[in-house]
Amino acid sequence: MGLLLGIDIGTSGTKAIAVDESGKLVASASAEYELLTPQPLWAEQRPRDWWTATCQVCQQIVAQVGSENIVSVGLSGQMHGLVMLDKSGQVLRDAILWCDQRTQAQCDQITARVGRDTLVNETANPVLTGFTAPKILWVRENEPAIAERAAMHLLPKDYVRFQLTGEYATEVSDASGTSLLNVSQRKWSEAVCSALDISLDTLPGVYESVEVSGRISAEGARATGLREGTPVVGGGGDQAAGAVGNGIVRSGIISVTSGTSGVVFAFADTPAVDPRLRMHTFCHAVPGKWHVMGVMLSAGGSLRWFRDTLSTQEKSVAARLGVDPYELITGEAAQVAAGSEGLLFLPYLTGERTPHPDPLARGAFVGLTVRHTKAHMARAVLEGVSFGLRDSLEIMKSMNISIGSARASGGGAKSEVWRQIQADVFGLPLSTIAIDEGPALGAALLAGVGAGIYGSVEEACDGVVKTGSSTRVNEENVALYDRLYGTYAELYPALKGTFARLSGI
Ligand code: XUL
Repeated sequence: MGLLLGIDIGTSGTKAIAVDESGKLVASASAEYELLTPQPLWAEQRPRDWWTATCQVCQQIVAQVGSENIVSVGLSGQMHGLVMLDKSGQVLRDAILWCDQRTQAQCDQITARVGRDTLVNETANPVLTGFTAPKILWVRENEPAIAERAAMHLLPKDYVRFQLTGEYATEVSDASGTSLLNVSQRKWSEAVCSALDISLDTLPGVYESVEVSGRISAEGARATGLREGTPVVGGGGDQAAGAVGNGIVRSGIISVTSGTSGVVFAFADTPAVDPRLRMHTFCHAVPGKWHVMGVMLSAGGSLRWFRDTLSTQEKSVAARLGVDPYELITGEAAQVAAGSEGLLFLPYLTGERTPHPDPLARGAFVGLTVRHTKAHMARAVLEGVSFGLRDSLEIMKSMNISIGSARASGGGAKSEVWRQIQADVFGLPLSTIAIDEGPALGAALLAGVGAGIYGSVEEACDGVVKTGSSTRVNEENVALYDRLYGTYAELYPALKGTFARLSGI
């Protein structure tokens, strides 16, 4: 039995799956860890926790399927995080994560030092607070003793790779989110690194996602139970790997993934850049290809906030009935007519990235009247997040990206009510994915390409990824949502200054 192991080092936990060549799930395991928030706007994790979790999930999978059956390993993970190691490979400080917002001053400095044009020509993106390079500068300015000892800078999944294989390696899709990669040439940008005094010796080797980047070492084998010598491919950042798992490997199909964050993802044959720099243009996990994506920070996160703060009653009823509280909340939202009787929700609960890169942006309900109930508010949250995702779709259309059909994945795609709202807000039919295992599945498929089981990523996806149910568009709602979207789009510019003033309190 030739099984492929995909390991996804996420923000809330690590998940591993073993699949056979047809993509059938044979085993899965997951382990959680803490998110540390030592100060407002900060988000950190201990790299050791990722490694402990990886060892646990691998041991569980090996116990189920036997290490001799695992022929190749692929990694995916939360992007943009900074892990700093000293020259003996020891972690120097807790990792600073993608959702950390402390680095606005360093982003401004980088843009000034590199020059906006060079930055965009080289990295295809503006530098944003979540990205990796500004974190390196922040440590240099605020913790110089640590920065001086930094001999290697790694991304989260690549730290786990180092523990598994002893190799310092990354791959193009994750490296794209560092602000240090020349995205069109798919190698570190000498221009940017030299302008920022970041030595190329402190960055790992860059591979394509399907290339073998190393093999399980004797130590890695002892810790995980995997067989020494098993190949480990480059893998991908969670979004690129997730897109492989969703079959987004040709133009025309896009994916809309709503987890905590919400991501609209399109395949691109060339490194197409939005002239107003609102989207991310990154290397895809498909060799020689790229992708364009919009990332909103609180998609499912907004609904989770609504559940935890305003739906305590639904939570206790759900516990009694043994159902998911989200089912009750979306069920109540479904009783309200499209448009929530003119109530709008802005989903910027943790600041925003696309299309408004603003750490100080805030959430809001706008248009409340005495007629509105909690059910209206629930529907407004589902609609507001969908409008936020539509922002990315609109930018993609303006970039002439072909959008024939869309695939919905992630926790948000499980709700039929929310899928219908999204289809109507986008004016696009949506289909689900039959095996929605997210980035871990993509990582496993990339491992299969690296092991020669599939001839290419496209071939792997054609054989494995099948769509599930589909949601048709309700034309009446499309017209209503078109009107409401126009009003939604006016709110952020009108409230931007207010948000900044509120953040000072
Ligand atoms: C992508 C991004 C998130 C993180 C965490 O740009 O920031 O997808 O990778 O999931």
